[in-house]
Amino acid sequence: MDLLHSSILSVIAHFSSLVSGSMMILAVTMSIASYFLIPILLGGRSKNWKNAPPGPVGWPILGSLPHLSHRLHEDFFHLAKIHGPLFCLKMGIKPAIVISSPEMASEILKEKEGMFSSRTITEAIRVVSYDAHSIIFSPYGPRWKALRRILITELLSPKAFEQFEPVRTTQVHGLLKYLYILSKSSTQVNIAESAFTALANLVSNILCSKSLFDNSKPEGRKMKEMFWEMIKEMFIAGTETTSSTVEWGMTEILRKPSVHKKLLLELDQVVGKNRFVVESDIPNLPYLQATVKEVFRLHPGVPLIIPRRTNEACEVAGYHIPKHCIVYVNIWGIARDPKVWEDPLEFKPERFIGSSVDVKGQDFNLLPFGTGRRSCVGWPLAHRMVHYYLAALLHAFEWDSPPEILRDMNERVGLTLQKDKSLLGTPKPRLQASVYEH
Ligand code: HEM
Repeated sequence: MDLLHSSILSVIAHFSSLVSGSMMILAVTMSIASYFLIPILLGGRSKNWKNAPPGPVGWPILGSLPHLSHRLHEDFFHLAKIHGPLFCLKMGIKPAIVISSPEMASEILKEKEGMFSSRTITEAIRVVSYDAHSIIFSPYGPRWKALRRILITELLSPKAFEQFEPVRTTQVHGLLKYLYILSKSSTQVNIAESAFTALANLVSNILCSKSLFDNSKPEGRKMKEMFWEMIKEMFIAGTETTSSTVEWGMTEILRKPSVHKKLLLELDQVVGKNRFVVESDIPNLPYLQATVKEVFRLHPGVPLIIPRRTNEACEVAGYHIPKHCIVYVNIWGIARDPKVWEDPLEFKPERFIGSSVDVKGQDFNLLPFGTGRRSCVGWPLAHRMVHYYLAALLHAFEWDSPPEILRDMNERVGLTLQKDKSLLGTPKPRLQASVYEH
């Protein structure tokens, strides 16, 4: 879509430069433009979308594309200030709505969940996602249900989660020992890359560990095929989102010495300096938990959750929403809305101390993993690993990072919303040598 969008814009730019040379051509162009524009201005965005929510006036064929860049979450955030928490636009010829408030998110993702539980499949998604038949982009239906059931009952079940605790510990402690070796030569480390490698090992260990299906039966073989299709997708979904959240978390903490100091105080009190952090320490680290919520609030890895699609035509807030409408929920925008959060741009873990707001999908002002039947199936793993990595990296090392990298908070839009300038840091051990060398 980005490519299509920029090609269309360059064609428009090309044409405008040609017409500027000649009044005659300009006059013809104006009349053609008014032929298209007058009906739009008088007749609304689209003849076939009656009682549509408010929204920017679209162009013929291009729809709202001229209003948008590749940073959709930012564009939607600004458009919501003009058109409100539910607005509509046209992605080319496809109708779309954008949700930008917790109340609207609750209405479509909870109260009308049944209508909004399918996914939108774009050409770009079709290319990376096995013809859109994998779990993340599967339409709501029997195939999606079967894939999700395998994940929830087998790979990511509470039992499997417990079972893999030693594997997670080995991966995290292995990373700390490796960083210790690098620290001896004062080597600078790319923090997201280190977390990514350890996570990739962990996720592949979990995903490849099970012999789930009986090959002797045809259904067993079919399930196995579907399962292997899912592996690559899980791998991408699991590793990049989680390592990128760790990178944003480390950046925010290292930028804010008061937060860093409180975290170290808590870690030293609970864990001490004679061992590494283990997972069972996490429930005893309330300031760390508040910090992680704040990281998820300001840096949701998937800023528009993964776009949904309406299964049926329905009504939201009195407006008509057509069947197969693309649905964006801008959780990135909700996090920056002063009507929802006090000092929204400030990294302030204290806002969660004594608050029951959580990331589990019940609080519609904080939905980093989405909610309901299409919510993130890997959230318990991701949630645990973000806590574990941040606690382990901060407790075991002091970090020296270039100030210009800490200052630069620009985002790069990719599969997930990443930090544009990768966080680099030189680790310096905080614990006794015997802890790392054990
Ligand atoms: C910080 C890390 C992660 C974030 C921020 C994240 C975020 C999300 C979000 C926002 C959705 C869409 C939810 C919705 O539509 O309501 C989603 C779906 C999904 N996530 Fe994650 N995710 C993370 C890690 C993981 C991990 C570790 C796995 C698996 C190992 C995973 C697997 C999935 C799958 C399979 C879906 C699609 C579920 C469905 O459509 O039924 N994610 N994730």
